[in-house]
Amino acid sequence: MGNFFPRWTNWLPLKLAIAVVFIAFGVSVGVAYYFTPKYTRVGYEPTQPVPFSHKIHAGQLGLDCRYCHSFGETSSHSNVPTNQTCFNCHGPGKGNIRSNSPKLEMVIKANETGKSIPWVKIHKAPDYVYFNHSAHLNRGISCVSCHGKINEMEVVRHDQPQSMGWCLDCHRNPENNLRPLEFVTKLDYKASDLKRADFYKGLIDKKVPVDEIATAIGGEGSKADSLEQIVALAEKTYGKEVTQTEVGTQIKKHWQIQPPDSCTACHR
Ligand code: HEC
Ligand code: HEC
Ligand code: HEC
Ligand code: HEC
Ligand code: HEC
Repeated sequence: MGNFFPRWTNWLPLKLAIAVVFIAFGVSVGVAYYFTPKYTRVGYEPTQPVPFSHKIHAGQLGLDCRYCHSFGETSSHSNVPTNQTCFNCHGPGKGNIRSNSPKLEMVIKANETGKSIPWVKIHKAPDYVYFNHSAHLNRGISCVSCHGKINEMEVVRHDQPQSMGWCLDCHRNPENNLRPLEFVTKLDYKASDLKRADFYKGLIDKKVPVDEIATAIGGEGSKADSLEQIVALAEKTYGKEVTQTEVGTQIKKHWQIQPPDSCTACHR
């Protein structure tokens, strides 16, 4: 009876205790490794070689993001501009803006030597992730949804986690972020800035049938024959101001926005 359990079981509690310690240690290392990067990444704000300010250039001067970050229709990666873009304004003879400023010394020098400025990269998806800017911009997702209010930043910082869960949150509910294409680089845009009649007229002009617009507002059975009736229905449903849900729901339905959530869409 005394030897019912084999001898080694005497050591079981000790082994278990050791294993628990190792597992706990492993878990905390794992937690640190897998989870913290997603959070420490937010707020990452490296010092750049030139004190370039988006607040001045994109905010005060109102330059469009695409003046410097020119995404080709098919290009998957964004880009930071070459020195030549800066020289359009800061180069000798071409505006000459502040070209004697010590803050621009490196830009002037880089242009003479033909070397590009070693900007520090801030956003970087891992190599095993497929990401395409144009596929988002051309479908009504703004820079601000993924990078925050860059136009107010003196120094660019990592504003959003850009983790897998973050990508999927939007893919499952894109209506929270969709906006008309002309506002994709207008970071201060709010749905409430839109005039309701103009927004719906835009849809009708693009040949979206009036009754489909009505069902997207009021559900099955909702009817409307004219722009005026649509506006009245929308006001009854959403209130006086145009809302993000209202705009996003229409765009999602009529442009057939269907962001993928299958593994192979993002991991090819
Ligand atoms: C006059 C040129 C210019 C304009 C206009 C401009 N940018 Fe930039 N942008 C830069 C330069 C140069 C850098 C690299 C240095 C830095 O990070 O500040 C940069 C960096 C960035 C980065 C970080 C890139 C990385 O390494 O991850 C983002 C995001 C960005 N810009 C978004 C925007 C958005 C959004 C707008 C429009 C609101 C905009 N930019 C307008 C020149 C410009
Ligand atoms: C469309 C014109 C334009 C372009 C393009 C442009 N800038 Fe500027 N930049 C300005 C203006 C205007 C100011 C001055 C704003 C002020 O002081 O009110 C300025 C200011 C600056 C300053 C601050 C200078 C100081 O002494 O305070 C730096 C640094 C700078 N720009 C860097 C860059 C870099 C780097 C690029 C290219 C990525 C660039 N700029 C592209 C117009 C431009
Ligand atoms: C749907 C989300 C999303 C939108 C919208 C978006 N970005 Fe990005 N951006 C990213 C991600 C993710 C990365 C990192 C991509 C990578 O490493 O390939 C990135 C990287 C960048 C970079 C750094 C690229 C490099 O190669 O250095 C710049 C610059 C940039 N974005 C600018 C912009 C501008 C300007 C807009 C709007 C016109 C914009 N982004 C809209 C998600 C987005
Ligand atoms: C703010 C919303 C939003 C965020 C954040 C977002 N997406 Fe998307 N994504 C969309 C929308 C909208 C589409 C377009 C769907 C369509 O065209 O029907 C899309 C399409 C895609 C597609 C299919 C188009 C293509 O390029 O093949 C891929 C892949 C994709 N996203 C990857 C990503 C990844 C990776 C991230 C995170 C780094 C991300 N997305 C973050 C909204 C978003
Ligand atoms: C919308 C795009 C998207 C889809 C869909 C997607 N992933 Fe990811 N996945 C990402 C991004 C972005 C990262 C990088 C996360 C980071 O850097 O924080 C990632 C990271 C991962 C990782 C690395 C582990 C980690 O947490 O860092 C694994 C494993 C993974 N994905 C598996 C999957 C599987 C399995 C599916 C299907 C069920 C899937 N992914 C669907 C975007 C996506």
